[in-house]
Amino acid sequence: MVLEENTRKIEVRVNPPYPIYVGAGLAELMAKTISHNRLAIITDSQVKALHLDTITSALKQAGKSGQAYEIPAGEDSKSFETLSQVLSHMAHDGFDRGSAVLALGGGVVGDLAGFAAASYMRGIDFYQVPTSLLAMVDASVGGKTGINLPEGKNLVGAFWQPRAVFIDISFLETLPDTEFRQGAVELYKHGLIRDENILPAMQNPDFQKEAVPLLIDLIAKSVGVKADIVAEDEKEIGVRAFLNFGHNLAHALEAASDHRLSHGDAVAYGLVFDAKLGQARGWQDLTQETLNFLRWVNPQPLPTKDFSVLEPYLKRDKKNKDGRMKFVLLESLGKPQIVDDLRQDELESAWTFLLEQL
Ligand SMILES: NC(=O)c1ccc[n+]([C@@H]2O[C@H](COP(=O)([O-])OP(=O)(O)OC[C@H]3O[C@@H](n4cnc5c(N)ncnc54)[C@H](O)[C@@H]3O)[C@@H](O)[C@H]2O)c1
Ligand SMILES: [Zn+2]
Repeated sequence: MVLEENTRKIEVRVNPPYPIYVGAGLAELMAKTISHNRLAIITDSQVKALHLDTITSALKQAGKSGQAYEIPAGEDSKSFETLSQVLSHMAHDGFDRGSAVLALGGGVVGDLAGFAAASYMRGIDFYQVPTSLLAMVDASVGGKTGINLPEGKNLVGAFWQPRAVFIDISFLETLPDTEFRQGAVELYKHGLIRDENILPAMQNPDFQKEAVPLLIDLIAKSVGVKADIVAEDEKEIGVRAFLNFGHNLAHALEAASDHRLSHGDAVAYGLVFDAKLGQARGWQDLTQETLNFLRWVNPQPLPTKDFSVLEPYLKRDKKNKDGRMKFVLLESLGKPQIVDDLRQDELESAWTFLLEQL
């Protein structure tokens, strides 16, 4: 199919490979590209009201049927209860191995719908139409699907790659600004770890939801970064760890705040922290750059000023190995390194530095 001039296609080279399209107004392309005639569209209450019609009418025009299943908006829907309801409805409505799941929504919908697809009849095909910036640049690339347990986030799930992902930035028009900034944090992180061309454009005041060609370009670059890393390391045993830049402190802050601090805000703090750790080891000084970005994100306040509150969480991070804290630091832009010998005094001075800047 010939793509519109400003639609981009990125190939994710996993087995089997699949395309991610990025553009504005992709419903028709989506409906024509999908090879299944019957789709279970999983969406949340908010996105359903705003965008479901666009998707169902495009499918209808292409002679396909889409049946919508609505879950409540919000992280609580990543649960066994919601999963079981969705699966039961699909079974009741006679979905079979030849049908597919389509996720229409943010990362919550994507993770839940992906896991529903991975488990229904031992696995059926899956498409993603992410509608939040976070889902576009992060959650819809990489094949991680799953739900939460009361004991912790994302503790149950599967790697399940989609057949195709359609990133239609027109959906961003209705996304609240605070949510837009959450996604921008992972976009910026992708710039730091692998594609520095992303960074100057994000400092441009034009970087907003409405900046169509700019956003298509940035999202395509960001998806390219994650897609390449995932293709190199589909099951997360090596370079995929680089995506964890900024995330050790972030996970500790989220836990210490009882998950009241959002992930994006927490990572924005974590980027400054990790930049400082790298700079103190004599590597490229990215502290000012990450601080400017943190100010743009305008995060909620830190849950604590006391580093000893965070330490137990840092030590418990699931990415640690043999009791050693494993950090990703940047030797320079685009050159991440895994560091597992950080000393207490290094961590404490990076924390003090962060506090002094706020
Ligand atoms: N699978 C992965 O690799 C991966 C990566 C990162 C995050 N995640 C997961 O993603 C989730 C967070 O994703 P999220 O930030 O998209 O959260 P979300 O899905 O809860 O969406 C955030 C809010 O924005 C609303 N929304 C989404 N698109 C909208 C639009 N176009 N217009 C108006 N409102 C819209 C949603 O209804 C929701 O209220 C977490 O559960 C996280 O664990 C998964
Ligand atoms: Zn993250």
